[in-house]
Amino acid sequence: MSVVDEIKQKLDLVDLVSQTVKLRKSGRSYAGLCPFHSNTRTPAFYVFPETQTWHCFGACGMGGDIFTFVMKRDNLDFGDALKILAERAGVSLHRDPQQESDSKRLVEINQTAAAYFNYQLKHHAEAERVRAYLRKRQINSLSIETFQIGYALNSYNALLEHLKTKGFAVSDIERAGLASSNEDGRVWDRFRGRLMFPIRNRRGEYIAFGARALSDDQQPKYLNSPDSPIFSKSDTLYGLDLAKDVIRAENLAIIVEGYTDVIIAHQEGFKNVVASLGTALTEKQLSQLARLTKRYALALDADEAGATATERGLNLARQALSYKNAPVPVGPGLIAFKERLDAELLILELPPGRDPDQVILENAETWRALAQNATPLLDYYFSAQARDLDLNSAQGKSELAKRILPIIAQVKDNVQREHYAQVLARRTRSDERVILDQLRTFEKSDAPLRVNQAPRATPLKPPAARYDEYLIALALHAPDYIARVDFLTPEDFNDPMLRQLWTTLTRYNSATAAFDAAAWLAQLNSATRAEGERLRQAAKEIQFEGGEALRELEAAAYRLRLQRFQNELTQLRFLLEEASAEEQVELTQRVILVSGWIATAKRALDTRTLLSAHVSRRP
Ligand code: UTP
Ligand code: MN
Repeated sequence: MSVVDEIKQKLDLVDLVSQTVKLRKSGRSYAGLCPFHSNTRTPAFYVFPETQTWHCFGACGMGGDIFTFVMKRDNLDFGDALKILAERAGVSLHRDPQQESDSKRLVEINQTAAAYFNYQLKHHAEAERVRAYLRKRQINSLSIETFQIGYALNSYNALLEHLKTKGFAVSDIERAGLASSNEDGRVWDRFRGRLMFPIRNRRGEYIAFGARALSDDQQPKYLNSPDSPIFSKSDTLYGLDLAKDVIRAENLAIIVEGYTDVIIAHQEGFKNVVASLGTALTEKQLSQLARLTKRYALALDADEAGATATERGLNLARQALSYKNAPVPVGPGLIAFKERLDAELLILELPPGRDPDQVILENAETWRALAQNATPLLDYYFSAQARDLDLNSAQGKSELAKRILPIIAQVKDNVQREHYAQVLARRTRSDERVILDQLRTFEKSDAPLRVNQAPRATPLKPPAARYDEYLIALALHAPDYIARVDFLTPEDFNDPMLRQLWTTLTRYNSATAAFDAAAWLAQLNSATRAEGERLRQAAKEIQFEGGEALRELEAAAYRLRLQRFQNELTQLRFLLEEASAEEQVELTQRVILVSGWIATAKRALDTRTLLSAHVSRRP
């Protein structure tokens, strides 16, 4: 792949344009005022996410791709635009031509092997039982060709010998993942007596194999090529080369688990189907699809394992999609995740114990209906989250709301968001207005959700803030002022790791005369230390000094407080809904108390921010 292609694959034009042009969604494209000609009142400037191009339908009539956009915007020549975008995409401009020809050779070896396996499958006597097996699985000869299905003879060197006669070096064959060797230098075929599914990348290049066992004594059931310079299992989606145009045209990608599921789906006319390679769906896999469509249906077994996999997959999906592929660097060391959920995620729930291939072969209409009636992620998620709760109890209802409200708050579309608020109200049999009210509390507190397993970034600068992280970074930046915010308690920190950090930080600070970050870090356990180290690095980016630093620190502390109490208030409102008369009295007292604390924190915060408004702020 060329550098230019790689950059284009990694960056999203919509993201980039959004930095300088206010875009609004208009059908499948985005529209805004043209930045390249003046006197525009109508939004004639369009960005097309699918083709990653832009065009002005107004006076200037210009258009192009991500490179031309940056060239025009910043008045650069192509070379400079390339440099800027390469850096942004994290792509090196210094290509090693040797490395490229090496990748080419490895692909060629895999492709030659695929053709060889395919030939053996069709012609070798040993493969008769395999041909019978494929007939039994109803995989037809057209599919065998389309997917280049093959058979690896039960031999230690058949493929090796074949590839050698084609002029390939044994060391390359090994690096391509097709042979193994031991210390004595003995080399043998990696795949023996297996049904071979070649794995191609989205460009149709042969990069690996999935090899299915054909008898019970073969383990594992599926043997994959090892990761190699051309293959990374967690980046690859099986069938994407054949599915990509259809996924784009139908605006839906269906993700299944197995090779045979993809093959049968395509064979029976459902060509928008791809498979993850037996792993939980990864961010990289999803970002490959993000260019083609924003609608994904995960086809999963209805059983427990399926449900678990779904939630696992969904966490990843949210993670990958909610932030539009890539974090956007906004300054040295700072990463702002600025996008909210921007994808439609569906769950295609299979009949218990059935794989997609079985469902399709039994009755294609069943599959069609399942695909058409796939459950939106949030509906599915509601049910999954409610499963272990007693929705007849106040506790259960409040717990469900607690789990679900932050997710609803991420839904971009107003109508949809209100819809889900209604669903939640119905499920918890609460007043819809109360739910909407609480939703607004969430929306106002501008702290983004910490998504499970999300990679930890350096702390965000408010207002996109995680005030907890920001506060600790500020404290490390200006340790002289820690004592001024030691009214904060561990309970003000939601995140256990940060709570721990804060506790040791204040304890250490009050026990020593001069705060020494290195000494403080040295006494922590390794996980906490890593987190502390990260925040210390981030603290280096902070530029506030003296009184400014103090005000910023205090403001962060009050904001943190405020968040905590507002959350508590939300919970209390829920509990009140269901409480007995007696409980109500008690809860109401707490509401008054918490409301008072909120008012105090707000006043304190106002003073800090009013003061700082008079101080010139560095950007
Ligand atoms: P399954 O065991 O469900 O296999 O694993 P399958 O695809 O339905 O295969 P058939 O229908 O029995 O022929 C689902 C997927 O998990 C991965 C493979 O990608 C497989 O398609 N897998 C499974 C492995 O990578 N290794 C294994 O040992 C098993
Ligand atoms: Mn199967």
